[in-house]
Amino acid sequence: MDLKELLSQFKNDLKNISSLENLEAVRLSYAGKKGALAKMLKDIANLSAEEKKTLGKKINEAKQEIQEKIAEAQGGLAGKKSALPMDKFLKTLPGKKPVTGHLHIISQAISEIVEIFKPLGFTRARYPEIDWEYFAFEALNIPSTHPARDEWETFFIDAPVDKKFGRQVITPHTSNGQVREMLKGNLPIRMLNISRCGRRQEDASHLQTFFQFEGLAIDKGVSITHLKGTLEYFVKNFFGPKRKIRLRPYDFRFTEPSFEVDINCDLCGGAGCKFCKGGWVELGGAGMVHPNVLKAGGIDPNVYTGFAFGWGIERVYMMKGGIKIDDIRHLVNNDLRFLEQF
Ligand code: PHE
Repeated sequence: MDLKELLSQFKNDLKNISSLENLEAVRLSYAGKKGALAKMLKDIANLSAEEKKTLGKKINEAKQEIQEKIAEAQGGLAGKKSALPMDKFLKTLPGKKPVTGHLHIISQAISEIVEIFKPLGFTRARYPEIDWEYFAFEALNIPSTHPARDEWETFFIDAPVDKKFGRQVITPHTSNGQVREMLKGNLPIRMLNISRCGRRQEDASHLQTFFQFEGLAIDKGVSITHLKGTLEYFVKNFFGPKRKIRLRPYDFRFTEPSFEVDINCDLCGGAGCKFCKGGWVELGGAGMVHPNVLKAGGIDPNVYTGFAFGWGIERVYMMKGGIKIDDIRHLVNNDLRFLEQF
């Protein structure tokens, strides 16, 4: 490229400049140490002394012209509000970091639970959070007139009733996924259903909207020892090797036998407090899948057996060692001063 071309290209570039940063880049590419003019000076090094003299002079004149034009443009840009004055820009001054957040603690707990169950072959499934009454109750061996329904303090949706499936509900537990999973027809089953649930309840240890995780394992020869082993495995991994659990006999309609699983309270160390009341905190239910539930899922209870458990995620998280949150509602108040601590 000859000098004339170079200059006209430079003028063109100059027209399109909108910031001091742009301008500096253009300056470097023409008049900088490794710029186009410097390269030209190098290229003429092998010419005769005479030619070097005339060409060198021209190149230097061009450089001067370019530098003048740059200074001019710089003045123009500095006058603009958006431009940053070069002399006031301290390149070594540390920048201001934008505030970054983190996943909500419930989301963190969900990921942790998923990772713990993965090596046992449980894979995450998702089912509707507004579901038919049938999957939340009837299919789980709880007929519409059964008093056990009261325990699920259910929110009903104001929507048309289906002849077969009944009303629509905000799922009061993740157990609605049990029969839905069975109806997929893939055996054996190792499902982990994590979902939002709703119940008419609210106090220091209950939320109207909360999360549960539900495990379901169905295969030939699944026994209660597998259930206990799985629960122990989870508790040791999630809470640490020193925490204790106890199984209390219970009467879920969809498992037989059934248990409530309790863990010793981390807040008071088992002495009893506002949160746990008696030293133990209920984590959730568990049991061997009732034959009627297997039948509702199209599975022969004479060939297959299974276990299930369903626990509240917020509760489980609050009982983690050293967390010491004494009111479950803190988790959802969305006060950054609280959330930033985790
Ligand atoms: N769905 C029950 C509840 O919400 C818990 C449970 C799940 C119990 C699976 C047994 C088996 O209380």
